[in-house]
Order: sequence, then C-alpha cells, then structure tokens
Amino acid sequence: MSDPRSSLGASTPLVQPLYQSSVYTLPDLDALDRIMNAEEPGFIYARDAHPNSRHLAALLAPLEEAEWALVTSSGMSALSAIFLATLSPGQRVVASTRLYGRTTQLLSQELARYGVKTEYVDTNDLVSMERSLSMPARLVLVETLSNPLLRVADIPALAKLSHAAGARLVVDNTFATPTLTRPLAMGADLVMESLTKMIGGHSDITLGLVAGRDDLLQELTQVASIWGLSANPFDCWLTERGLATLDLRMHAATRNAAVLADWLAEQPGVSKVYYPGRADHPDHALASKMMSGVFGNMLCFDLAGGREAVNRLFRQQSAVPFSPSLGNTTTTCSHPATTSHRHTSPAEKARQSITDGLVRMSVGIEPIEKTMAAMAIGLHVPNESKV
Ligand SMILES: Cc1ncc(COP(=O)(O)O)c(C=O)c1O
Repeated sequence: MSDPRSSLGASTPLVQPLYQSSVYTLPDLDALDRIMNAEEPGFIYARDAHPNSRHLAALLAPLEEAEWALVTSSGMSALSAIFLATLSPGQRVVASTRLYGRTTQLLSQELARYGVKTEYVDTNDLVSMERSLSMPARLVLVETLSNPLLRVADIPALAKLSHAAGARLVVDNTFATPTLTRPLAMGADLVMESLTKMIGGHSDITLGLVAGRDDLLQELTQVASIWGLSANPFDCWLTERGLATLDLRMHAATRNAAVLADWLAEQPGVSKVYYPGRADHPDHALASKMMSGVFGNMLCFDLAGGREAVNRLFRQQSAVPFSPSLGNTTTTCSHPATTSHRHTSPAEKARQSITDGLVRMSVGIEPIEKTMAAMAIGLHVPNESKV
C-alpha cells in the first residue's frame, strides 16, 4: 500500500494534521538511537512526545513569554508535574489560602503523604508572606485571579519575596489566561494553565500547560512520561483551533462580563457582586495595573436566599445552565460550595466567603441581552413559587 503522506507532493497542509497514533515506526536501531539521544528530531511513543502536543506547546510558549512549554493531560496533571519535578520529602510549599479546591487537596492530601509540607498564607498580605518566607520554602503557589472570588495576586511583589527566600514562584493563570496576564514577564518562574477552560474555549477537551524560562523542561518531560501525565493528540489538535480565537473571545467575553456584573448588582436578591473590573472589588486597583483594563470573563454574585435561591435560578431557566466548569463560548453558572470547593471545610468556606448562595459565572460571547433575559427569569421568580 502506498504511503498516503507521499501523495501530498509539493503540498503542505495549512492546518497541523492530527497524528492519532500511539507509536511510530523506525527504519532501524540507529535511527531510534539518534532520536533517543536528541541528535535528530522524531517521535517514538506518544506518551513520551507526539507532533500535536509539540506543535501546541510551540504555539503557547511565546504567548506566555516562555522559553519552553509542555502540554499535559489536564490542569491537575500540569500541577502534579511541577510538584513531582521540583519537590522532595521534607520540603516546604507556601500556598495561597485561595486556590481551586482540588489544588488544595493535591497539596494537603496527596503531597503530604510524600512528606511535603504546605503552609497556607493570605498571599494578598505581603507582610504575612514575608514572615512565612523567612523559613525555607521551595515553591510559592498562587492563582493570578483566584477561584472563585477573583482576588488578584501581586505577581511582581510575590516574585521578589519568593526569590529573596530562594523559592520558585508558580502561578496558576487559568482564570486570567495570557490575554490578561503573562506571569513569567512579571517575574514568575513557572506558569500553569488549565487549557480545559478559556484556552481550549469550547468545553470539549481536558488539557494542562506548564511554561517557563529556566532549565526544568527536561525534568518535567521525563516526569510527565514516567507518571503518565501526557496529553492526547486529538485534544491538542482541538485546542489549537480554540487558541486561534483566544484573544477575540476573551475581549468579547470581558465586555459582556462587565455589563453583566453591573446589571447583577442592581437585581433584587443579589447581595454582592465580585468582579475585578468594578470599583467595589478589593483588588480593583491592582487588577487595573496588572491587566491593562481587561478584567476577564469570570464573575461571582451572592444570593441572599442561599441554596434555595440558587436552585430556583437554575431550575427556572436553562439558557444559562448550571455546568461546573468555565471557559465555554456560552455563559454558564457554577456553585463553588458544592463543586470546586466541595471538600473545603465549612469553616474555611466561611472564612473565604464561599457561601451557599454564591454563584460563579463564566461569561461567554453570545449577545449579553440574551443572558440577562434568562437570568432575569431565574432571579425574579418570587420566593413562594418554589419548583
Ligand atoms: C484555577 C484552576 N486551576 C486548575 C484547575 C484544574 O484543571 P483541570 O480541570 O484541567 O485539571 C482548575 C479546574 O477547574 C481551576 O479552576
């Protein structure tokens, strides 16, 4: 059978082809040695490397202002790869008190079993950070915009404090994306993204990214292959398609989010709105400085009626669905108390203001009037008409 690739002649596909193959063929042992010894480009086994993840990483590295990037099977595996490549038993991590719930679990439950200790600090309180970093620490971990309440990390200040203490600053940039913030350019050592969210952009993939400027790529690549954290080709291929419109989508969704946040603040039953673009957000000034006026597509609001009011909002309308993720082209809602922070203790939830009435919205790019009309149906339903 003739090789279909040879029938392309002088033509080259405009779009990166999908290499849906878990293994490659090699002409002889010498060729295998040359690839293994990095004397020649090539691929052998997809868990080690494949053209689609390599190509996606090459597109993402300059966006993050990184020297290199590595695509992994999920945001959580990107974090796992960072921890496995940089930490040893007995070492200490200083992490933000405001992290995605699973990230806190990864540190407190999983890494703790391997003898890694984590201290949680309010990373917006730079005095507390300096005090915590007076003890040896290997890594500092923050989210640019925290999940769910969108507190903003002062990355340049945290980078200075981390480096003075000999620690690497790792930034989870998932809620911000490189459209809003490029943490490496602000002094961070490693940036990670859940590509599953706004970068993939269509809720049809699960992938993660680690990018940096130092010499960690080889170590991370090895960890990803040995621990089985590698990305699959089709998800990489789809993510390339999403990436092409990231900036367009983020700017359109940001415009929608700003309108929606102000509208929500006027609605009956809404006791509080959290959006970094609003002057009443505690980090509005910092966000204005770090994000050059683009505050992103994520917002939260609190319903005074608690869980019942949230249930009514979700049951009364389906145009803005309860769908516990973020980053789709259409607007979706989530409920941090029962999803992303389900395993957070009641005391910690209370401390972080993650109430039963808190709704998180990932704002999309559809006409925002449509979203507001659906939300109005869900919000304006009288208390007595419980369904
Ligand atoms: C801020 C943040 N980081 C990391 C993750 C994990 O990403 P993934 O679901 O792709 O593993 C999530 C998921 O929601 C997240 O919100």
